[in-house]
Amino acid sequence: MALAIRTDNMYSDAVGDQGISPTRMDALAPQLKAVHTRVVDDLAQGLAGTYGCLSLSATMLPELERIHATAAAIRATCRDLVVVGIGGSSLGTKAIWHALHGHPPEGPRLHFVENVDPYDLKLLLAHLVPQDTALLCISKSGGTLETVVQFLVLRDWLAGHLGADRARRQQWIVTDPEQGWLRALAREENIPSLAVPPSVGGRYSVLSAVGLLPLAASGVDIDALLAGGRELARICQDGHFDANPALEMAALYYLLDAEQGKRISVMMPYVNRLRLFVDWYCQLWAESLGKTRAGTTPAGSLPVRAMGAVDQHSQLQMYLESRNDKMFTFIELTHWEDDAVIPLGAADREQYPHLHHKTVADIIDAEFRATREAITEARHPSLTIEIPAVNAFVLGSLIELYQRVTVYTGLLYGINPLDQPSVEKGKRIAIRYLQTRKRLAELSDIRP
Ligand code: PA5
Repeated sequence: MALAIRTDNMYSDAVGDQGISPTRMDALAPQLKAVHTRVVDDLAQGLAGTYGCLSLSATMLPELERIHATAAAIRATCRDLVVVGIGGSSLGTKAIWHALHGHPPEGPRLHFVENVDPYDLKLLLAHLVPQDTALLCISKSGGTLETVVQFLVLRDWLAGHLGADRARRQQWIVTDPEQGWLRALAREENIPSLAVPPSVGGRYSVLSAVGLLPLAASGVDIDALLAGGRELARICQDGHFDANPALEMAALYYLLDAEQGKRISVMMPYVNRLRLFVDWYCQLWAESLGKTRAGTTPAGSLPVRAMGAVDQHSQLQMYLESRNDKMFTFIELTHWEDDAVIPLGAADREQYPHLHHKTVADIIDAEFRATREAITEARHPSLTIEIPAVNAFVLGSLIELYQRVTVYTGLLYGINPLDQPSVEKGKRIAIRYLQTRKRLAELSDIRP
């Protein structure tokens, strides 16, 4: 497996009564076995299963030819690709693109129009050349307010410069195969489109056309991305339940929250390129697990973003001395490409003897080890994921790993990790609010 997952510091042997005792883990075995079997059996149905999103790394293979062809058409059309989408329709793509864009794909520059911000939108448009710009609108439901509104503005801008016909040839859509405003638009205007499988929800969709199309267009090796996902899926699916690494992680995260009061789960990579991966993870975790099952304690630890080593100069003080209500996940890069020896003159060597013969990567490595040691000494449970490189294969594995950990953890809590009733509620209220505001605005308009 590309990833090495070190769970030792989650257990009581490392952090005493703040960790999970092996006996407690053993007692959970029947539940773990049930969860494992439930997902394995379900995935025999592929995309038709309830947890079909966990099959994408394999079930998308027949779609790859079409995705590559569409990506090639996009690349041939533009130098700038504006990806319009929010939440699950954007965060995973952004995370992977951000992690890999230094590894020079030949494709267009990607711009993500996600949050609604008229200032940012105007700034973006001021820098784009309409003739060289393509729009890719991504929405599973095909009707999310933020996405629809910004796509309308961008389409209008493009049509205003190029005329409706040419503008249409610079637009692509990824949405539900049948339903929603976007699907209707694609049909009506004959805009090329790809489908999101109906059983796959937003935050679990990055390994579908939602992520694969923009990533392929920008030159990311999506075959390797899916291969990484498949490797991880195979390891989780094919073996015995107690050889399933994602299930062990889920069990630890679950027990630490539900039984040990670790209500906060900090993810702290020591590699800048994974900064947006943490955003993707936070959304996946929070939207999937923040639920209450009638008559039970609310589920879900609060996911918190941190960045090594920057947050050693900020959050770490609180992590070490404030309440003992946190667990940690570190991500460590074990091999740095492009490393550099620290250049020291004779005087510098005298001042910093410990830097002699050291590289820049040695520094981040030492910082990581120091933080983990301090966290463990303070008896906070922590888990470390070691990655050998930042590439598409590894990212595919990480995505698959956390999608699985999230689903398994949800099942251990006894909640549905795939829905998001409160997010839907927010969307409905926002529309109601807009309707009210519209009427008020009309009234004030007719005042003298
Ligand atoms: O995970 C989810 O379901 C959400 O975060 C959605 O991805 C987000 O609300 C955007 O929805 P849509 O893709 O339908 O525009």
